[in-house]
Amino acid sequence: MAAIATDPAGAPERLVPQQRLGRQRESGTPGHRRDAKKGAGAHELGPELRIAVQLPGKAQHLLELSRSRARRQTHGCMVQQDGAIDSGLMDFFERQWSSYRAIVEHDLMEHRAVAAATANAIDSWLQARRPDAPAPRMVDLGCGDLALLAPLLQRLPLGHYTGLDLAGVVLPMAQQALGPVNYPTAWLEGDLQAWAEDRLAQSGHRDEAPPNTDILHSAFAIHHLDDPSKASFLKAARQRISTGGLFIWVDVFREPGESREAYVARYQRRIDGSWPQLSAEQKNHVISHLSGFDIPADREAIAAAATAAGWQWRWGWQGAHQAEALAVLTPLP
Ligand SMILES: C[S@@+](CC[C@H](N)C(=O)[O-])C[C@H]1O[C@@H](n2cnc3c(N)ncnc32)[C@H](O)[C@@H]1O
Repeated sequence: MAAIATDPAGAPERLVPQQRLGRQRESGTPGHRRDAKKGAGAHELGPELRIAVQLPGKAQHLLELSRSRARRQTHGCMVQQDGAIDSGLMDFFERQWSSYRAIVEHDLMEHRAVAAATANAIDSWLQARRPDAPAPRMVDLGCGDLALLAPLLQRLPLGHYTGLDLAGVVLPMAQQALGPVNYPTAWLEGDLQAWAEDRLAQSGHRDEAPPNTDILHSAFAIHHLDDPSKASFLKAARQRISTGGLFIWVDVFREPGESREAYVARYQRRIDGSWPQLSAEQKNHVISHLSGFDIPADREAIAAAATAAGWQWRWGWQGAHQAEALAVLTPLP
């Protein structure tokens, strides 16, 4: 798959030492499985949660292993009753990840500005904390391959980092991009809404991440939820943020009152007219994903829904195209 080929096979491994990773669930756990022969690392903890623990081998081999697991996991785990995310996920990784990589490389969705705005928001929040506050625990929902966030994460004084993604295939990429850091990390394959609603624990398993999160981050993932699900996600996530915590939500948003159809049409015009760096095939991949799976929130309606869910909302950054933006949410008392 072209997407995988962008990560060079045979690239030097940079494995996070095992002790830095989330604690493993030991055998006896239902669904527990480890591929010890290949030395591959994934503990299957239940239908909605797995922790990647160690990923030896060449990068291509690694990703192939993870991809096949992601496929099995995806088919076995319907995170939406109608299966929309499930089929969307497969579509995303089988055909579209390389196109997304090209978008990031050419900065077509302003990822560089997003990264700078994210760093500003987190740095300001850190500076405003009490000097004796414990090192913050961070959860990144839909972490992807960490192409956007790794440089920031490498310098943040975190107490713990959890990267969660519905697609296990990206977790080894994220782990490699991050490299060794001075805080424990956990890599979870799971659904962001299930995490927010604490349903990952339903099967009796618990991730290593602390129950409350000081910094919640999600970039370009929540727009895959429909509007009622976004509202319930906001309510649930409010319960998981610590007092004084911070939620950075980077995403695409619709203009107030704009229909999804109008949004998709204008985004498609933008792709056709101003993304010459992408091939025709890549543009088709992006447009197909956009039309099939993207449900950006109406920016005014979602701010109101967030307030109703107990969040204070402000825009931390807004891109040039009335789509990409970063919202800074803090829990209302
Ligand atoms: C467009 S990529 C963004 C990746 C990264 N956050 C970034 O900004 O570069 C969206 C990511 O969200 C993940 N994702 C989509 N829906 C999800 C869900 N319901 N739960 C967890 N992850 C999800 C996808 O698998 C994908 O890795």
